[in-house]
Amino acid sequence: MEIITAVRGFKDILPTETGKWQYIEKIAREILANFGFREIRVPILEKTELFKRSIGESTDIVEKEMYTFLDRGDEYLTLRPEATASIVRAYLEHVMYAQDPVARLFTIGPMFRRERPQRGRYRQFHQINAELLGLDDPRTDAEVILMLMQFLMRIEISDLHLQINSLGCTKCRPSFRKALSDFLAGKEDRLCKDCQRRIAMNPLRVFDCKTTNCIEVIDHAPQILNFLCPGCMDHFTRVKEALGMFAIAFEVNPKMVRGLDYYAKTTFEVVTEHLGAQNAVAGGGRYDGLVKDLGGPDIPGIGFAIGLERLISISPFMDEKFLMPPQLFIAAIGDKAQKLAFSVCNRLRTMGITTEMDYSGKSLKSQMKRADKLSSHYALILGDREILENKAEFRDMQKGTQETIGLDDLEKTIIKIVKGS
Ligand code: HAM
Repeated sequence: MEIITAVRGFKDILPTETGKWQYIEKIAREILANFGFREIRVPILEKTELFKRSIGESTDIVEKEMYTFLDRGDEYLTLRPEATASIVRAYLEHVMYAQDPVARLFTIGPMFRRERPQRGRYRQFHQINAELLGLDDPRTDAEVILMLMQFLMRIEISDLHLQINSLGCTKCRPSFRKALSDFLAGKEDRLCKDCQRRIAMNPLRVFDCKTTNCIEVIDHAPQILNFLCPGCMDHFTRVKEALGMFAIAFEVNPKMVRGLDYYAKTTFEVVTEHLGAQNAVAGGGRYDGLVKDLGGPDIPGIGFAIGLERLISISPFMDEKFLMPPQLFIAAIGDKAQKLAFSVCNRLRTMGITTEMDYSGKSLKSQMKRADKLSSHYALILGDREILENKAEFRDMQKGTQETIGLDDLEKTIIKIVKGS
């Protein structure tokens, strides 16, 4: 019978990899806490309407990448393609702004997008997502970017490039949109079908298109930075100044519009050459109109998400560094020895010593081979004859030394040696 495999684009994270994931998440949690961010856990399933209204109807995500289904009732539900919308929904639903107008929230978990799977692109992937709500001060833009760069530095990711842009606000973006529409008028036949369809609704999406023809057309288009109103211009200047205070290197990329419609003012991405076509490790930006668009008060926000699969694929840490080998392996030859091994092994585990034993009853040589394969630090060797003599052999597998120990107070003796090492 054929085995059932995982769904295409959905990937297992194996025990050999999870140590690295846990370590990276631990560092993220530490840094997020230093910057005052607190964890929120939001559901994986939301009403489809939430993503349509926040991410935007004319985006790739909403148009073709969402896992949406009609629930048994008559409600459309969607596996979350990102977390910002859900966090803002929770912020509103629990009226968090009434207790404190400023909220720094983060969440870590899986997201779902039905994209074409390729290197660095999965249909289920994981993000570390941080959102700062309630402040529109440009210093907070720099603060959030500093936190992101600090994290990437701590986990020793190299060759990263921070790109920033400003997408203006509801005051200045319409004039840019008009200029862009005028520029694209008459060039429709050179654009891909998606862009042709979308330009009426949202011409900015052409900047995000990966089709060669669209890239060529948009290359000469007007640029948003030339259309910013004085308020947005000032905001962007201050963000750049504040980044300078922390010596954060960046490049202004006026073509970066990001693939979600909720952004206003500052947007940013961290890219690397190590990832091929899917070069963004993290992306984010300001979304000052989103809370209001989702039915709440006029509260600004800014945040980012880091793609964990991409990050981990370029992390310099070796998987082996995070494997947790047993501290002790018990090899037992004979019935009495197996019985004693079973009880000692599990009692030591309950006392905090990572212990493994062999249940096979195979030869000493084969049991020690397994101890070696597991990279156990110590091995306890029990044999029926030695038990009669009230003794056992204790081997330091790393040093290659061995001593005879008594069976009275065996666990105490072992704990003393193992904890003392
Ligand atoms: P995003 O740019 O769509 O932004 O995703 C952020 C990161 O998630 C990307 O830079 C990438 O590393 C990773 N990512 C996205 N799609 C995939 C995929 N199919 N496979 C693997 N990794 C992927 C957002 O999601 C926004 N919610 C970020 C944000 C938060 N903006 C404000 N607050």
